[in-house]
Amino acid sequence: METEVAKERATLKESGIIDARSLKKSHKRLADILQPGMTVLDVGCGTGAITSGIAEFVGPNGCVIGIDNNPELIEKARENYKDIPGLTFKVDDIYNLPFQNEFDIVTSARVLQWLASPQEALNQMVKATKINGKVLVLDYNHTKISWKPEAPETMQYFYDCFLKWRSDAGMDNEIADHLQDLFQESGLTDVKVSLQNEKTKRSDDDFQTHITIWAGVAAFKGSQMVKDGFITELQRAKAEDDFRKWIIQRAESQIMYLLAVEGTKERN
Ligand SMILES: C[S@@+](CC[C@H](N)C(=O)[O-])C[C@H]1O[C@@H](n2cnc3c(N)ncnc32)[C@H](O)[C@@H]1O
Repeated sequence: METEVAKERATLKESGIIDARSLKKSHKRLADILQPGMTVLDVGCGTGAITSGIAEFVGPNGCVIGIDNNPELIEKARENYKDIPGLTFKVDDIYNLPFQNEFDIVTSARVLQWLASPQEALNQMVKATKINGKVLVLDYNHTKISWKPEAPETMQYFYDCFLKWRSDAGMDNEIADHLQDLFQESGLTDVKVSLQNEKTKRSDDDFQTHITIWAGVAAFKGSQMVKDGFITELQRAKAEDDFRKWIIQRAESQIMYLLAVEGTKERN
């Protein structure tokens, strides 16, 4: 079971960032191991941008289910991708998955970072996986972000408050580097880790989309942080404003540290 504080802080109020994701660019390790005809569960699928790519890849002989505990996101996912065969979206909670030994791959991308009990969630993902199937988790270590040149001090202060706000809800800011231990604790074997950093530089076509992510966080999560007393509205607004100016005038690159960790389920 999740704490109410973590549940509230994890709630996504704006889906622009996740709508712009794709299987090939945003979940590369999954794209590498998928095969046509597979059954796949995508946990915390949001509005289904990555899930739709999974369904297209496995084709009509496969079966893909995307689940999320946010009914508004699932409604959008259903609307966006209603024409893809073999793809279903359901409102469900990662802590209570209604599946047992059913999928070749159970995956979650950027979800465990928002949970106060990631081991419990991972155990549910293992339960849903077939014997000899794989669990694959992609997630961040937020303490290893890098901006060049350095982001404005106001944004660095906001970022520190953001990490404190998350820790206060029991979330692990370094979850990527703890996944291997969680996998071993879940009984998964043949555990492999691959570096999947999200890098963006000024010369990239999609630079604006990626570099504005922290302005978006300052706007949306920032308002919740103000409400929860972790930063003042003045500090939040200044961080957002300075960061947007920094993007226009100075930003060269941003690297967000992510690991993909996969393991095999050998037995129940
Ligand atoms: C950062 S978004 C990632 C969405 C997508 N997987 C991606 O990589 O773009 C995290 C998602 O996890 C979902 N989520 C958070 N807690 C959850 C829970 N307890 N059960 C199911 N989904 C959850 C959120 O609603 C949100 O859609």
